[in-house]
Amino acid sequence: MAITCKDNVFTLKTKNSAYQMKADRGFLFHTYYGPSVGDTDMSYLGRTIDRGFSGNPEGIDDRGFSLDTQLLEYPGYGTGDYRDYCLRVVYPDGSQVTNLKYIDHEILEGKYALEGLPAMYQGEEKAETLKITLRDIHRHVEVILYYGVFEDLDIITRACKVINKGSESVHLRRAYSMCLDFHQKDMDFIQFYGRHAMERVMERSHLHHGVQGIGSRRGYSSHQYNPFVILAKQDTTEDSGWCWGSCFVYSGNFQAEAEVSQANNTRLTMGIHDTQFDFLLEEGEAFTAPEVLLSFSSEGLGKLSRNYHKAIRQNICRGKFKNARRPILINNWEATYFGFDTDKLLEIARQAKEVGIEMLVMDDGWFGKRNDDNSGLGDWVVNETKLPGGLKRLVDGVNEIGLKFGIWFEPEMVSEDSDLYREHPDWALKVPGHSLTRGRNQLVLDFSREDVREHIFNRMCEILESANIEYVKWDANRHMTDVWSAELPPERQGEVFHRYILGLYDFLEKITKRFPNVLFEGCSGGGGRFDAGMMYYHPQIWCSDDTDAIERLRIQYGTSFAYPVSTVGAHVSVCPNHQTGRSVSMKTRGVVAMAGTFGYELDITEMSQEEKEIVKEQIEEFKKYYDLIQNGDYYRLSDDGTKSNYVAWQFVSPDQKESLLNAVVLRTKANPPFQFVYARGLKPEAIYHVEGTELNLSGAALMNGGYLLPIVTDDYEAVQIHLVECE
Ligand code: DGJ
Repeated sequence: MAITCKDNVFTLKTKNSAYQMKADRGFLFHTYYGPSVGDTDMSYLGRTIDRGFSGNPEGIDDRGFSLDTQLLEYPGYGTGDYRDYCLRVVYPDGSQVTNLKYIDHEILEGKYALEGLPAMYQGEEKAETLKITLRDIHRHVEVILYYGVFEDLDIITRACKVINKGSESVHLRRAYSMCLDFHQKDMDFIQFYGRHAMERVMERSHLHHGVQGIGSRRGYSSHQYNPFVILAKQDTTEDSGWCWGSCFVYSGNFQAEAEVSQANNTRLTMGIHDTQFDFLLEEGEAFTAPEVLLSFSSEGLGKLSRNYHKAIRQNICRGKFKNARRPILINNWEATYFGFDTDKLLEIARQAKEVGIEMLVMDDGWFGKRNDDNSGLGDWVVNETKLPGGLKRLVDGVNEIGLKFGIWFEPEMVSEDSDLYREHPDWALKVPGHSLTRGRNQLVLDFSREDVREHIFNRMCEILESANIEYVKWDANRHMTDVWSAELPPERQGEVFHRYILGLYDFLEKITKRFPNVLFEGCSGGGGRFDAGMMYYHPQIWCSDDTDAIERLRIQYGTSFAYPVSTVGAHVSVCPNHQTGRSVSMKTRGVVAMAGTFGYELDITEMSQEEKEIVKEQIEEFKKYYDLIQNGDYYRLSDDGTKSNYVAWQFVSPDQKESLLNAVVLRTKANPPFQFVYARGLKPEAIYHVEGTELNLSGAALMNGGYLLPIVTDDYEAVQIHLVECE
């Protein structure tokens, strides 16, 4: 049993971790999360001390006992715990005090599901569920805490449901998904910040007294902060030390905060951001807070990442393309932008076929009046000036050449200069009578509305059924402002942000079910919605609009802390690069794009024969390494290039018989020092042949002695070292 309950102590065990709570005197305390501790009741670590200005709950005759200093599992607001809280409810009389008490629990076989929300599913894994019911003793508000235990994956999921069991309506002003309390404070907060075209840069800083946190009020999870954080002991490295990850399976506004209290303990919370969050619960209504994936590693950050990679790859991603080999595509965005027609696309397809590319993706600009980004969104009707004879003629032509065909959509958006907007101005998020805030000169459609979703859904279905379309790139190119829905009454306007995301998930569920053979790639101006929530519907997401291989090193490094390579959309693009103006070799661009789904985004018709030969070889190589890259274990072998002069990473097959070590040396230097890269994850005693050389080296040698990187004569040279265990 992964979940046990003895004397009101709940212990959740995974292969390498234990999570514990205790119900005592009506409260649900958190007692431990770390390496296995057998069956010990960890509440012995709890202390009581008469601490000034930390009040004592009624019924407990001990001035040393205060909720303010205890480790709690799901703190409500207003009863003496002054730290960050999980739940704040406004009751009909205006009071906001919620006093949660433990009521009962249930242990179930299998993993719970969350209606309308993405969540880890059981798949082939063993999983158990614990449900704990808490109730406000005065107000009849009930909270069900859900725990999913994936023993072999070292993942514990958390989510909760708040139910109004009273007869009067209440307003939820905050309903976080989880709280994780620690006795200590000497830890680092690791987060992934960024901006458009530079997402998920890893930043690590010591915790300090007070609150340290990240979040999004942009409507989507955002480029600016990723909904994934790590707490790590200060001496934790890639290969050693303790760390705890918290990954939000949600694509909208979020908040993740770590607070160090007066007593030097730390509280980590995660949930939907409470800015403009106000959920009305009438009698009997419930609100479900999205899922968080927790994982603990005592073997450093590398192991923590691999735990998430496996869980997301196997138990978040779904559908045919979760395991099936994905086609190597060429996308026309950076090749043509809006300036293309059928002939141009067919020429790209012809030349792409010659080098082994398998699919052509037609990006933005094929519909309505769309010759730049000022108009046309919402009018999902083929532009026959660009594509004479329609989509079918183009797609048939591409198929005849021997390539699959994919198409771009931006379903959630509308241009003011569009027939859709002229007909339905109230379908966009905006406050009537107010001036508008435009982003990329477009507005966001109100996806909280079923009629809006239904219209777009039907248009998309018509297009997807009109030709042999095998891939969809789903884009979203601005964040939300002026959030107000024409459909909802005033008292429900605080629900729009979340209802939008629920509407989006509903749409995605339907469209992916309707087209099970279509590969969906998520995108939001690159990686603006790169989260585990979207991965439930899109097994891959365009990682960044920055296609510069060297900038991608840093972006993909940060991304790798939570997300598996199979989800990372990465392409080889032209040089000088369109975002940075930098030129690097085709080889380097290929090696970097191979740390993702791999494809091309350039005008192949402008390439020299010599370059095309390189592309051909690259594609052969990628096919050879496909399984190793997509399903192997991923190791970071360096930092993101901030401190070291190279960035290196490695794939190791699950049976450790094969490995691919990749490095990009950043700067060439005069009279250069030697640089070694140290392999990881190999069998120490096994002998590996270094392909293309005479070398046969033991795993121990490669891991402890390292591998000497070549002396480079140009900036940004890449090496790829293929290791195969000798028979
Ligand atoms: C943003 C995406 O990230 C790009 O790849 C491209 O699809 C453009 N949108 C098209 O407008």
